[in-house]
Amino acid sequence: MANLINGKEISLRVRGEVKAETADFIQKTGTVPGLAVILVGDDPASKIYVGNKKKACLEVGFNSFEHILPAETSQADLIGLIEKLNADPSVHGILCQLPLPKHIDERAVIGAISPKKDVDAFHPANVGKIMIGDYDFLPCTPAGVMELIRSAGISVAGKKCVVVGRSNIVGKPMAMLLLHENGTVTICHSKTKDLAAECREADILVAAVGKPKLITADMVKEGAVVIDVGMNRDENGKLCGDVDFSAVSEKAGFITPVPGGVGPMTIAMLMKNTLTAAKLAKNY
Ligand code: GUN
Repeated sequence: MANLINGKEISLRVRGEVKAETADFIQKTGTVPGLAVILVGDDPASKIYVGNKKKACLEVGFNSFEHILPAETSQADLIGLIEKLNADPSVHGILCQLPLPKHIDERAVIGAISPKKDVDAFHPANVGKIMIGDYDFLPCTPAGVMELIRSAGISVAGKKCVVVGRSNIVGKPMAMLLLHENGTVTICHSKTKDLAAECREADILVAAVGKPKLITADMVKEGAVVIDVGMNRDENGKLCGDVDFSAVSEKAGFITPVPGGVGPMTIAMLMKNTLTAAKLAKNY
């Protein structure tokens, strides 16, 4: 049986550190870090994520500003709100929950967020800074994965890393962060010729595609580190990842569960980024 990497526990430790640093920051600057979260429409999963972000903010001592907008909101109105938040000194971080309704151009919205307040690190200026290794913020989910790997005492240098999925939110930045830590990185996607063979090469395998139980035991090298970013429902409506946990956990050396693996880390890293944004604003 693989060693379980406990994301819940590690995320609580990170949130505890952010909370302590925040108290110190508030005492020294008189400024309370503030995160504005925008939700357009009423996607049930997004509503839960946004609620969890608000709870986490209050728990670490931040101000939380929630903007829940109807699904019909125009792109111009949404960008108008972002411009107001960009100019508001009590707001240090701005997050617009994705996906957005189809009539809104996600790129235009992400591009409207001030790069200094872009706690998702989705703005092209921040993406570029990550590429060259000179960044203020790292995207929350890949940063959370790196923290899980570090906390488990696993070194990435020289390891064969395979990332399955090439999204802008997870796959691409994940590959870059593993490269920064001197991993030898392969990115797999829907056109990859032999996914199973690529995955079997991996010392560190990160699955981020959104397909329930795509990664089966025959695709995993004995003793590999398996990180599951997926958050899906199986045929019985039960929460599951991209990895067939019960079979793969018999073969892997380390594995993250779903839930309780990567998920809680995303919010912990968002708290970390918001505190960083507040520090930047105050030249702290
Ligand atoms: N939707 C799913 N994950 C994320 C995320 O990390 N940030 C934002 N803004 N939206 C998301």
